[in-house]
Amino acid sequence: MENIEKKPYERFSGQIKYIEKVKNDNDATFAERGERRRAFVVTFGCQQNEADGEKMKGLALAMGYDLTQEVSEASLILVNTCAIREHAEKRALSIIGQYKHLKQKNPELIIGISGCMVTQEHREYEIKHSYPYVDFIVGTSAFHRIPELIYERRARDKRQFCREDEYAVVEGMPIKRDSTYRAWVSVMYGCNNFCSYCIVPYVRGRERSRQKQEVLREVEELVRAGYKDITLLGQNVNSYGKDLRADYDFADLLSELDKIEGDYTLHFMTSHPKDATKKLIDVMAKGKHIAKHFHLPMQSGSDRVLSAMNRRYDFEKYIGIVDYIREKMPTATLSSDIIVGFPGESDEDFEATLSALHRARFDMIYSFIYSPRKGTPAAEMDTQIPDKIKSERFDRLLETQNGIALEANKKLEGQTLRVLCDGRSKNNSEMFTGRTEGNKIVFFDGTDSDEGKFIDIFIERGETFALWGRKA
Ligand code: 5AD
Ligand code: SF4
Repeated sequence: MENIEKKPYERFSGQIKYIEKVKNDNDATFAERGERRRAFVVTFGCQQNEADGEKMKGLALAMGYDLTQEVSEASLILVNTCAIREHAEKRALSIIGQYKHLKQKNPELIIGISGCMVTQEHREYEIKHSYPYVDFIVGTSAFHRIPELIYERRARDKRQFCREDEYAVVEGMPIKRDSTYRAWVSVMYGCNNFCSYCIVPYVRGRERSRQKQEVLREVEELVRAGYKDITLLGQNVNSYGKDLRADYDFADLLSELDKIEGDYTLHFMTSHPKDATKKLIDVMAKGKHIAKHFHLPMQSGSDRVLSAMNRRYDFEKYIGIVDYIREKMPTATLSSDIIVGFPGESDEDFEATLSALHRARFDMIYSFIYSPRKGTPAAEMDTQIPDKIKSERFDRLLETQNGIALEANKKLEGQTLRVLCDGRSKNNSEMFTGRTEGNKIVFFDGTDSDEGKFIDIFIERGETFALWGRKA
């Protein structure tokens, strides 16, 4: 708790001496061997984690490492983990298991684990005792201290366990962005909602917002540098500003960012329905740069389940927001998150979710099978649903949504949409791919120079998961 009074910039500036020490050591090795030490950073999970991973890469570069995609040649491995579902944790643990032999081959290798998984006490214990070759762990609120942990690990030959710092905002960290035209900008961190199934409030702490000037400065810099697609991030992005007790909220922030001159689009995620105000929707409708795309997790269509989930809205309130979005922005794309198999979910509750899908007509959903998370209230409920029923419901959910998505995408046939090109498709290098303002994937006949540019595409065919077209 030594940093409790520190300001956002001071919190990181304390690390500069460690960055220099690690860098000096890395530079000396380079002088001796003629080869730079390399860092391998792998991230699991959500966009917030991706954004954190880009800061970890920035730190690695500042410490004099080169980045590598090849784990076997790394002198520093950082695994940035997720804990949202059991599957994510299993994958991370299995990857960490595979690194044991790398450490045997190269005792100089430093392995650090960050992110939501290791911010949980029981995972810290597990890593400490079952993964002795892991050199340090660092929690979601403390990863700016990676330079210090690497330095201490080397200088004292002692494993480092830094699961929590006080949950505060850190400014001034270097960032190595993965793209030159799509960027993440975290505007707030943490979550106060405590939905009964969710681990996030336990591993990301309470809500805290960045100062408006900091966000403005970062977005301005990105637009000036030619970034085309900027996504404002927060676990609960539309509650931005509440903790600042300032006279502005997320809608005001968005409206101010929208004034920045340039050719770019602003997205934001993830929103909680309780904070999806009419004011916010009005700002979106009027915005010049704000994507007409709303990702608004519904989670369930049953009021009984929503209440057990502690979501603090019912279906009527939810659909009221959807209707208002469609009234103000008839062309808006809507997406949602849905969980099936929450404890106690009856057939009737599940049917309510299916009919909610028909009523809301989302363009796409991210669907999840409920996964009990240790320490959350829902994991303790004695009405857990058997796996077989969960997966049957999951299949029916997808089937229902696929029909709705197909219809929505068919309606776009014959329209010309602005698409940000992501270059050649990974599956078919003859085709180019990109995303619409509503985040729909489009395949088209492009050229290499289209990558990173907005291109107008005439949509010829709408399918369930993608649109197909040609340059207009
Ligand atoms: N099980 C399944 N899905 C979950 N989500 C969050 N926690 C769980 C869980 N324990 C889903 C929610 C959330 C999305 C990011 O992940 O739908 O909106
Ligand atoms: Fe988890 Fe609910 Fe917070 Fe989203 S709003 S991060 S689902 S607790």
